[in-house]
Amino acid sequence: MIDFKKTIAKAIAEVVNIDEKELETYIEIPKDANNGDYAFPCFKLAKELKKAPPMIANDIKNNIKIDEEIIEKVEVAGGYLNFYIQQSLIVKDVLEEIANYDEYGKSEIGKGKTIVIDYSAPNIAKPFHIGHLRSTVIGGALYNIYKYLGYCTIGINHLGDYGTQFGKLIEGYKLWGKEYNVEEDPINELTKIYIRINQLCKEDEKVLEQCRMNFKLLEEGDSYCTEVWEKFRSLSLKEFQKVYDLLGSQFDSWNGEAFYSDKMPEVIDILEKTGKLQESQGAKIIDLEDKGINTPCIIQKSNGSTTYATRDLAAILYRARTYDFDKALYVVSYEQTLHFKQVFEVAKLLGIDEKYTNGLKHVPFGMVSLPTGKMSTREGNIVKLEELLNESIARAKTIIEEKNPDLENKEEVAKKVGVGAVIFNDLSNSRIKDEIFDWDQVLNFQGETGPYVQYTYVRTKSVLEKAGYMPKIEEVKFDNLLDEASKNCIKLIYNFENTLVQVTEKEEPSILSRYLIDLAKAFSNFYNDNKILVEDKEIQNARVYLTYAVGKVLKIGAKLLGIEMPDKM
Ligand code: ARG
Repeated sequence: MIDFKKTIAKAIAEVVNIDEKELETYIEIPKDANNGDYAFPCFKLAKELKKAPPMIANDIKNNIKIDEEIIEKVEVAGGYLNFYIQQSLIVKDVLEEIANYDEYGKSEIGKGKTIVIDYSAPNIAKPFHIGHLRSTVIGGALYNIYKYLGYCTIGINHLGDYGTQFGKLIEGYKLWGKEYNVEEDPINELTKIYIRINQLCKEDEKVLEQCRMNFKLLEEGDSYCTEVWEKFRSLSLKEFQKVYDLLGSQFDSWNGEAFYSDKMPEVIDILEKTGKLQESQGAKIIDLEDKGINTPCIIQKSNGSTTYATRDLAAILYRARTYDFDKALYVVSYEQTLHFKQVFEVAKLLGIDEKYTNGLKHVPFGMVSLPTGKMSTREGNIVKLEELLNESIARAKTIIEEKNPDLENKEEVAKKVGVGAVIFNDLSNSRIKDEIFDWDQVLNFQGETGPYVQYTYVRTKSVLEKAGYMPKIEEVKFDNLLDEASKNCIKLIYNFENTLVQVTEKEEPSILSRYLIDLAKAFSNFYNDNKILVEDKEIQNARVYLTYAVGKVLKIGAKLLGIEMPDKM
């Protein structure tokens, strides 16, 4: 497609003698379409050119050479230069691209770059809860989008399958394993054991000591501890897989924390050699005071066992060597901000290239709370994600039953709508915001929701079905799509790839979900303003084609977020 920004930047560069790449970054898209399709804010050049912005604007306007087939007119508005693109050219450009590429918006801009994304990472023997959903969904969307833009993308599920809590679980299992049906309902039963052993640890210091010992034994490869641990792990994974199947999640690597157990001595060794590793009450720590971090990073506990942080350091070393990444993202709740600050700082001592340490990035997100309150495993007060998804599917089914009782494949549609609603809800606000999970909002077909986007897509499908044919792109006269509502749809479709790029620049999938809402709304306006199926074949062809284009982009966009589109609902 024609890159209008680039075209404009190039034309301005010829007048002002400033690098066109720099100029391109200044170009804006005006909120009000009356101010043109693109605007150049001349005050950005005032200092360099030593002139007032309106004067610069006038100078450029008088001297700029523009291709009239591309740009219809240029106007000065105060310190701004507004550019109006030939509308039928945008229409042609967009629709031809839609016609020629199944994977509209796909690009190669990430070619040669590797992005590691660490996401989901639930903890073995603990419920996969709504907090992990956010990581799974945000990480999954970023994964898909980076990949679509041509990056080599590695998705890692850094399972919480190691740590002192396993010392506790092993102890609980040893004491009461027979009382619980762990095989049948692993996570629930193990959670009960975990709650019970925690209680006992509070009452009896000796038990707590034994738990710590168990973890140490596990690290040393003790056969009983290892066997029990493996059992917990495989039973838990089987449970997690049910959620991943519902969500359609995939990972390239399942190397969890335990994978690094034999890779930590090297980390400790390297840190030892830097002279920065200090003894503190029997533990080994790195002081980070001079880096502005008040809490030291604990590398080894006083009983010799390793920590969550050490495992993350070993993982950084391993990922740098194995994947040679350009960026490594950690999609983890903001509660762990301090942890990542510490780990990323200590990583600078590992002797790896700066390229790697500069590429480490925590992608934090806000907490989800439910009307029933906060969640914590220890108290046993949690909502399980599998139950939540199934509830959403059931609710979607009830709504479909009411609205469209004759629909075929109701189960399948309910699944797409129910799961899609939960995913979209999680991605619809900027990720850092805390979120209250509210069913009425999640499944509202009229609100800014997943079901609304799906419903709009289904509408495009039914228009195409009613038309009963699909015009060839050669049969479309682009001049028939110059009304406001059509133009809005076209402009949005034109901006699709750019929207994906913005998602990766900010690691913010909500930019794409907002975009899909905007496109769905633009289509509703188009649909309300214009009859699509009309006598005049020429007009009808154009409108049918635009309908097809909107549907296509909605579907691709939703898929990138991890949401499936039903054909009917
Ligand atoms: N398992 C951890 C938790 O549930 C998240 C792990 C995130 N990834 C990492 N590399 N630390 O809190």
